[in-house]
Amino acid sequence: MPEDAIVASGITKAYGSMMAVDHVSFRVPDGGIFGLLGPNGAGKTTIIKVLTGLSDLTDGEARVAGFDVRRYPMEVKQRIGWVAAEVILDDDFSGWENLWLQAKLQRVADWQDRAARLLEYFTLSAFKDHKVSTYSTGMRKKLEIALALLHEPEVIFMDEPTIGLDPGTRRMLWELITGINREYGITIFLTSHYIEEADALCNRIAILDQGKVVAMGTPNELKARVHGDYIELGTAETVDETRLLAIPGVHEARAQGPTWILKVDRSEEFLPHLFEHIHPDLIRKINVAKPSLESVFLQLTGKRIDQASNEAHDYRKFYANVRRARG
Ligand SMILES: Nc1ncnc2c1ncn2[C@@H]1O[C@H](COP(=O)(O)OP(=O)(O)OP(=O)(O)O)[C@@H](O)[C@H]1O
Ligand SMILES: [Mg+2]
Repeated sequence: MPEDAIVASGITKAYGSMMAVDHVSFRVPDGGIFGLLGPNGAGKTTIIKVLTGLSDLTDGEARVAGFDVRRYPMEVKQRIGWVAAEVILDDDFSGWENLWLQAKLQRVADWQDRAARLLEYFTLSAFKDHKVSTYSTGMRKKLEIALALLHEPEVIFMDEPTIGLDPGTRRMLWELITGINREYGITIFLTSHYIEEADALCNRIAILDQGKVVAMGTPNELKARVHGDYIELGTAETVDETRLLAIPGVHEARAQGPTWILKVDRSEEFLPHLFEHIHPDLIRKINVAKPSLESVFLQLTGKRIDQASNEAHDYRKFYANVRRARG
């Protein structure tokens, strides 16, 4: 069995007395898509920085692509790609020239075929000779991901990959990201403050708040932690609250115009009881609302995931280190 692609054990990063990351542990299996969700300042970018070797650990251990990040930082860097939160490309260069520059930085020999395939995958082939300054935000992000994939990494880290994109472009990028995982077999670690993004993309999610993991699991496991489903019920005849509360499993009944909103434990178990108490012929409308990740997040942190910052990270430093190491 291959080793997990990422193993973080009690990773900790302190800035003075401030614990930016506080004893965080998780594993990402080879080929997994792992998401770190958290509000501004939760420590998401700091976790990426320590896992990619950009920042030293204060405490704890991390292994990425089979190597300890502290003892073998260069082995790690050669096996990973990194997409920073802010798009940082050379605007005066074309897409192709940016790939050429990346190949130089990463010392990738025979990069042209792979670069051409990546441009095709990201539907940028027609724009390869256009200056990046003419690219849309979505095209820039796609080119950035292509750059991070050029040296055939085993693991790719993406810090807020769809920040600043409109919903349509965001969805298009989701498909490309899952495709990279499926078709190229690359393990993906991403951060996000978009709950629906983590829900759509990730097989496993950790919710981070003030440097600590407050919950971890599959999207469905996390949603199951918020107890109760809501049933929206419309009936052909007037039904009063007492009658609804008498149905086993109803915790709450709230009128909303002509319909009722019932809070129940599990809709699957509740519906048969409902049909025993109210004849199906009388039911005009029925909708089941499962708990969302948004409600999990609110319940666990008391916060909404808000707008994330757009800091420019040490992207250049990252690749410059790799170049230095390869001499
Ligand atoms: N170089 C640094 N020196 C001091 N404090 C820092 C440094 N880098 C980050 N921090 C602090 O560490 C905490 C975590 O920051 P981090 O950038 O990891 O959060 P984040 O979850 O990525 O937030 P965002 O969603 O805004 O990108 C914040 O309080 C931040 O101010
Ligand atoms: Mg960040």
